[in-house]
Amino acid sequence: MIRADFALRHASQLATMLPREDDPLGRINDGALAAREGRVVWIGDDRDLEAQVTLDGDLLDAAGACVIPGLVDAHTHPVFAGSRADEFAERVSGVAYHAQQSGERGIARTVRATRDSDVVTLTELAAARANRFIANGTTTIEAKTGYGLDLEHEARSLEVLRQVAEQTRLRVIPTFLGAHVVPAGVDRRAYLRSLMDEMLPAFKPWAVFCDAWCEAPAFTAAETRAVLGRAKSLGYEIRVHAAQLAPGEGPDIAAELGARSADHLEFATPAQIKALAKAGTVAVLCPSANFTTRGPRPPIEAMREAKLPIAIASDLNPGTSNSESLPLAMSLACVQWGMTPVEVLAGATMHAAHSLKLDGLAGCLRPGSFADCIVVDAESPEAIPYYVGVNRVLQTVVGGAVWQPL
Ligand code: NIG
Ligand code: FE
Repeated sequence: MIRADFALRHASQLATMLPREDDPLGRINDGALAAREGRVVWIGDDRDLEAQVTLDGDLLDAAGACVIPGLVDAHTHPVFAGSRADEFAERVSGVAYHAQQSGERGIARTVRATRDSDVVTLTELAAARANRFIANGTTTIEAKTGYGLDLEHEARSLEVLRQVAEQTRLRVIPTFLGAHVVPAGVDRRAYLRSLMDEMLPAFKPWAVFCDAWCEAPAFTAAETRAVLGRAKSLGYEIRVHAAQLAPGEGPDIAAELGARSADHLEFATPAQIKALAKAGTVAVLCPSANFTTRGPRPPIEAMREAKLPIAIASDLNPGTSNSESLPLAMSLACVQWGMTPVEVLAGATMHAAHSLKLDGLAGCLRPGSFADCIVVDAESPEAIPYYVGVNRVLQTVVGGAVWQPL
């Protein structure tokens, strides 16, 4: 008998997200799973559970709802203060996102509000976002800094991420994004020096990944190569904001450095996409940011043809995507871009986990994986993106415990 301290029963369809020949979602009809100390120890047909598992702990009855792995969001910016709702309204009336990035507007404005905030307030704001992620079915996020933009305030952003992970049940994978933009009023060369000589070495113990935004209004290709090259030599894994607003070398740099992810990619060329696929990089697409900036459709066909894995992310941030909802991002990717429900489900689980080096742990359900799953009021996993902009998540389980809102 297998001993468990948590079990979930009566899932009409339980998607393991481990593709089988007969089913890309690897689903079990009338499925059940059992967990011990936060990890899955058994998964199978509900009728076999009692014969194979001894439960000493909580039992969750899915009562015929669907169960899928907790969603994995591979691109978020959750540490910030202030609002840019007025910039959203301006864009609705035709102003371009790019045109909002000069002077003390756009990202610079969020940097000011974030620096002016204290660590307690920033942690409260980020923890509220963490709770909304979990309520909307996300159990793991990649979380970027990038609104501090100096040694002191970037360190504080990493500290906020540490505290949020401790306070909430969300799994938080920190990314250092000091190379978001050059902060207002600072000499470009001096900032790059501080980034490479002070911040990158100082933050290595805390941040798993290093990211840079490679295009105007942020960093040139040469600057991006210098920053990310140094990051790689210090042992960071690499992510790149690339070809979001215009064509450029960002995707090439991601491929050259063997980045774990190249993100946005609206303007990536077919040759760049092939290079990314060859490098083993994951394309992290951000449908909600694309939606509010009215960006073009990313080259999905070229990605499919190159067999480039596509992750779907919320890109939670105050400028282009103030949303913690991956199900909404999945709906948008289906409707706006013609991705299939199966593609977006894999994109918000398996492929996202792969981009975070969490293969086999997050984004799938199997013995040994995190016992992170969601119970969803939908007739099938494929129906999740069909429910547009309403939260159909009934329960979120993280590490074998049902999450309760605080
Ligand atoms: O992913 N592209 C750069 N960064 C964010 C936007 C940040 C902001 O506008 O505050 C993004 O879309
Ligand atoms: Fe981003």
